[in-house]
Amino acid sequence: MTIRVGEVIAVNGTKITLRIDEDSSKETLFYGGEKYKGVSIREYLAIQRGFREIICIVEGEFLDEARVESANGKVGYIRKVEARPIGFFDHTGFKQGIKYLPMIKDAAFLLQEERIASIFDRAGSAKPFKIGRMLKEDIAVSLPWKRLFNSHIGIFGNTGSGKSNTLAKLYTVLFEQKFSAIADKSRFVILDFNGEYTGNQLVPGESKMVYSLATKAPNAGVEQPPGAVFPLKAEEFWDLETLSLLFQATPNTQRPFLNRVIDGRRRYEKNPGSLTAFAKKKFRDAFSAGHPKAAALDLMRSVAKIVENDALIDLLKEVSWHSHQSKFMRGHTFFDPDGEEYDAEIAPTVETLDATNLDAFDQLLLRVTLQLIGDLINGYVQFDHIQPLVKRVESSLSNLRKVLTVGDAAAPDKLLTVISLRRCNNETKKVLPLLFAKHYYNSHKDTVATPPDKTVHLIIDEAHNILSQQSTRESESWKDYRLEQFEEIIKEGRKFGVFVTIASQRPADISPTIVSQLHNFFIHRLVNDRDLFLIDNTITTLDSLSRSLIPGLAQGSCVVTGTAFDLPMVLQVDRLDRDKQPASEDVDLEQLWSEAADAPA
Ligand SMILES: Nc1ncnc2c1ncn2[C@@H]1O[C@H](COP(=O)(O)OP(=O)(O)OP(=O)(O)O)[C@@H](O)[C@H]1O
Ligand SMILES: [Mg+2]
Repeated sequence: MTIRVGEVIAVNGTKITLRIDEDSSKETLFYGGEKYKGVSIREYLAIQRGFREIICIVEGEFLDEARVESANGKVGYIRKVEARPIGFFDHTGFKQGIKYLPMIKDAAFLLQEERIASIFDRAGSAKPFKIGRMLKEDIAVSLPWKRLFNSHIGIFGNTGSGKSNTLAKLYTVLFEQKFSAIADKSRFVILDFNGEYTGNQLVPGESKMVYSLATKAPNAGVEQPPGAVFPLKAEEFWDLETLSLLFQATPNTQRPFLNRVIDGRRRYEKNPGSLTAFAKKKFRDAFSAGHPKAAALDLMRSVAKIVENDALIDLLKEVSWHSHQSKFMRGHTFFDPDGEEYDAEIAPTVETLDATNLDAFDQLLLRVTLQLIGDLINGYVQFDHIQPLVKRVESSLSNLRKVLTVGDAAAPDKLLTVISLRRCNNETKKVLPLLFAKHYYNSHKDTVATPPDKTVHLIIDEAHNILSQQSTRESESWKDYRLEQFEEIIKEGRKFGVFVTIASQRPADISPTIVSQLHNFFIHRLVNDRDLFLIDNTITTLDSLSRSLIPGLAQGSCVVTGTAFDLPMVLQVDRLDRDKQPASEDVDLEQLWSEAADAPA
């Protein structure tokens, strides 16, 4: 049952021109109980060619100059339509791609709605995976979830265009439909910069672990609620990669230095008193070295402070550096390399030093300080090269202590982990995501089989926070390092079953290497030229017609394209139920500013 609407009058390359019969310009037509869409732009037509139907999308419409007079004397114009073939139906169903082209005089027909749906709805499974309806056709289509979640996904759009809703909808539907099947095979981790997913979203509470990390909260003496700090295992913390990343160590001098610190710890790990002994030894070395170093004095003062030994702090105040003699002195006493003066004046107080009850962070600070004293005396390092690292350790410790714990406990293994960085300062926001990404990537990579028997899905909303190429606040080398780490995950991750979903307002700010590695895209309204240019250049599956719609899309509409989809389509994503929506709603000024709201009850 089909409606004939016209016939082919020109074929030029892949551009088809059709002459359209008089009355097929209605918006919607009903025929034989079926609903059809009239011929207009972005609608689909079927052109009969033998036993195949070639499907074309309408890209333009115009009137021919020539007047025609019909038999009953009515004057009309010829209506022409330009169309582009996108695929064909044969006895097995829809096939995407231009394989057959129509010829002149082939007849064109309207397509029933359900056949249009079958072009896009290619999930081919019993359980449909629906997150929305096609914008123009208003048909709910099922997404090919198998191919979609087996890929890196990008969700882009200006602020307020509905990215977070789309992201949340995508995963809410996934969890609703496949929950029992994925619960013990896959893990999902959301890096949530704005605390949008810490409530009821996505999955029921028992399958969700939420970490609300805060550097701004008061810390001292307060019992931390579960989820206030992220647990790192000791071996993961005392790892070159972790420490380099947390303290942004430079590769050529600071990393080897950190490596020596870690090595030193590992060697004496079993012996609980070793750190205290190590500290005492460094005091002796500093005072009685053949060539003492002035810088060691400040470092020793830091040590005294870290172990909170007041007697030692006071004693060191009396010590000074005599630059002429290149020796330490106290009162009129010079400290000579033989150690005699040290034994008499300093050693008894140093003996009271105790470093056994430090937490991992203080231990780290102590170890780097002691290592620096030792390396300085031995002439291994230049003070100026390492000191910035020590300062960085010192200054970030109080922040890190608020968001991390180091111990034996591993993070609980829930289906979904949400790590909210909403209440973290900017510095922490830059460093922690990298740590978490590495944490999940490495631990997964080390245990996964080939081919992967489990997967990890890393979801980053507001990804420009960490994947942006333009950032003036951090050093060039650190930025490169940061991006490299994510690029590695995105380039190599697929082989290990690690998939990344990123959402961002400014795709143009995100490293092009990363955007070009994404497979599937949900593109909401974007107006900035730079963003559109990037979209044009990196998304090969986007056609010009869909591309031209992007600046004008409404809230929640997006162009969906990529390797999982044969053809780009425009989708109006369903809005989630109120309690499932990400906490990112527009302000309702009418309500906020209404007088009733403030009036005393
Ligand atoms: N599919 C939709 N249908 C209707 N309204 C929507 C839809 N998606 C989002 N909205 C509304 O648009 C507003 C913003 O949505 P959302 O937070 O998802 O945008 P966003 O692109 O993530 O913005 P931002 O970049 O600021 O995070 C919300 O108030 C939401 O209720
Ligand atoms: Mg958002």
